[in-house]
Amino acid sequence: MIPGPTPVPEKVLTAVGRHPIGHRSKDFQALVQSTTEKLRWLHQTKNDVLVITGSGTAAMEAGIINTLSRGDKVLCGENGKFGERWVKVSKSYGLDVEEIKAEWGQSLDTEKFKFALDNDYDKQIKAVIVTHSETSTGVINDLETISKHVKKHGKALMIADCVTSLGACNVPMDSWELDVVATGSQKGYMMPPGLSFVAMSEKAWNASEHSDLPKFYLDLKQYRKAAHKNSNPFTPAVNLYFGLDVALEMMQQEGLSSIFKRHSRHRAATQSAIKELGLSLFANETCGSPAITAVVPKTCDAELIRKAMLDHFDILLAGGQDHLKGKIFRIGHLGFVNDRDILTVISALEATLQILGIKNINHGSGIIAACEKLK
Ligand SMILES: Cc1ncc(COP(=O)(O)O)c(C=O)c1O
Repeated sequence: MIPGPTPVPEKVLTAVGRHPIGHRSKDFQALVQSTTEKLRWLHQTKNDVLVITGSGTAAMEAGIINTLSRGDKVLCGENGKFGERWVKVSKSYGLDVEEIKAEWGQSLDTEKFKFALDNDYDKQIKAVIVTHSETSTGVINDLETISKHVKKHGKALMIADCVTSLGACNVPMDSWELDVVATGSQKGYMMPPGLSFVAMSEKAWNASEHSDLPKFYLDLKQYRKAAHKNSNPFTPAVNLYFGLDVALEMMQQEGLSSIFKRHSRHRAATQSAIKELGLSLFANETCGSPAITAVVPKTCDAELIRKAMLDHFDILLAGGQDHLKGKIFRIGHLGFVNDRDILTVISALEATLQILGIKNINHGSGIIAACEKLK
């Protein structure tokens, strides 16, 4: 129950285990064509969704280095480990970064973006970079509103890390007018790690014409050219494409609204169970991520709970990062997760608290609360 790599359905694993085929073969072209259509469906876009062999960071870095130039001013949302990462990536390419920060555990204040954009009279801001679902703290940021402010500005691009939001909640690329959407296979895609995906709007492609940042493997123009021939510029992870096609087909069978509803129910059940048990939610309930719930155990080290969950029940939870280590643990409910998984993790957590002798726990209440939300 971590937020990635997430569980992989047997059907997907079996597909990945096939013998590889030539990446310049007709069979592979047909596979690319099939996955391309489905990726557009998942992103709710008419744009190309390009596939890179790499992790989610590769997709984000590609989005940044293909659209921007040295010295460009960018606004970067920073309310967790991943926001911090995009600040680091941007600075390492010589961009002029203005950070819009919120305390870790809080969502980004959309008004701060509006203020900075409204006051940028000479249109110096070239991009706004935001993590939609901040996995490190379990917070969902209001990307839709931030994107509206970016559109009003007119010049800046909206670059979004949707690594743990795509496939968990609504991320309609075209109707929200997102310019870059970056994701990775080991998350909502129900896939093993290894593929990353980047979709760019026409506005972002126009910006790419002037981008002077160094790139070769992540030069998206090569990927776009190859994609129009149902191909890939380099040897792609062919076997992961087999799995991708099956995983996307499963997602289409379930339907986008059912997928979003399932994640939303699981978030509600987890949040409610945690509160009833007497533990605290790290993120405010109103901005809890549909992918992950961060929990503050209050009376004991979070690492003790993680260790006991693993030792006694073979359930892996994610820990806190940086200054949050030992302070929080995180329950992933992203991707191939069903009601039974939620009930299992909550009951195992209750049992763990009992084993650890933690006082003031309302035993039995977590599972009742979760059931109530799963009805
Ligand atoms: C929100 C978010 N962005 C980016 C990443 C980076 O992805 P990767 O580790 O695949 O490079 C992750 C991974 O956990 C993530 O959760």
